[in-house]
Amino acid sequence: MSIDYTDDKKKSGDANDEILLTTSFLREDDGEGSLRPQTLTEYIGQEKAKKNLAIFIEGAKRRNEPLDHVLLHGPPGLGKTTLAAIIANEMGVTLRKTSGPAIEKPKDLAALLTNLNENDILFIDEIHRMNRSIEEILYPAMEDKQIDIIIGQGPAATSICLELKSFTLVGATTRSGQLSSPLRDRFGIDLKLELYTPEELKVIVERSARLLGIPTEPEGAAEIASRSRGTPRIANRLLRRVRDFAEVVGEGIITRAAADDALTQLEIDRTGLDAIDRRLLTSIIKNYGGGPVGLETIAATINEEPVTLEDVYEPYLMQQGFLTRTPRGRCVTRLAYEHLGLSFTGPEQLTF
Ligand SMILES: Nc1ncnc2c1ncn2[C@@H]1O[C@H](COP(=O)(O)OP(=O)(O)OP(=O)(O)O)[C@@H](O)[C@H]1O
Ligand SMILES: [Mg+2]
Repeated sequence: MSIDYTDDKKKSGDANDEILLTTSFLREDDGEGSLRPQTLTEYIGQEKAKKNLAIFIEGAKRRNEPLDHVLLHGPPGLGKTTLAAIIANEMGVTLRKTSGPAIEKPKDLAALLTNLNENDILFIDEIHRMNRSIEEILYPAMEDKQIDIIIGQGPAATSICLELKSFTLVGATTRSGQLSSPLRDRFGIDLKLELYTPEELKVIVERSARLLGIPTEPEGAAEIASRSRGTPRIANRLLRRVRDFAEVVGEGIITRAAADDALTQLEIDRTGLDAIDRRLLTSIIKNYGGGPVGLETIAATINEEPVTLEDVYEPYLMQQGFLTRTPRGRCVTRLAYEHLGLSFTGPEQLTF
């Protein structure tokens, strides 16, 4: 199996599971478009965020006003980009997309803002990677629908103020902690996306299987769901991989046994941990007595980027109660020792 690996955050790896479980964008995900829900009703899970959003959208529409600025944050692959498109769709306005690193100069942002039509949505992905000098242009734009631009250079330079049409800024980030507080404060709606439950992911897998025409038994969908690390993007990717196995080795139907065989072949264990998860946990246990150990140190030990561990791997390990973050560093829990079949030697760590 060969998959093009186009993620700059992470080094490429040969292990299938390493590639499969990354939650970042792969070229294969070009097919993601067809699986993206278009409306809030089709968007599964995230009940709290959805409920609030539905009320805010309804209110804005009734008043014939743009929606307040929205910040979406949470780990990769949970549906931030999808939700931005849904917001535009539900509001009946156009979505203009860009990303933090793509806006290089103040004039790039000025051009984007002045080209928006009344009530349009400007979606800035990876908004935490936006340059601070550019961020400052956003403040008056978000608050007063104005931007100040400088024309000319040196003593002849003059600043002019441009009025903008009403618009909604939707920002998405995997690292909300890196957002400056003046920017963060200017978002009226702050939605944190949570990892999905296996039950929600089962519904997502069944929906995707239906759209892709893959015969899937409920138990097969449940098996994929429980091994997808709480992440729809991974669930959809595993569904495709399990289909390959089911077609080539089995009878083409995704049963529980077929899903289990395929996922075991791919070295994804019963709880969805992959080779890197296991390496992360065992390395803390074997080299640092179960912790506490700093993120940078573990990252160097297992040869991964700290940001990848923090954004992609740790949220799920913490949710499962295998890892805790303490002020002195990361600690592996008794549960993780048990899961890995190792005898627990260290002091009792905090478990969830
Ligand atoms: N609530 C949901 N219901 C159904 N499918 C979903 C849901 N959320 C996400 N998906 C599926 O997961 C895929 C990934 O979602 P999306 O691209 O929106 O994630 P993201 O949070 O923007 O990730 P990143 O941080 O990497 O940009 C989508 O193509 C979509 O098919
Ligand atoms: Mg996205």
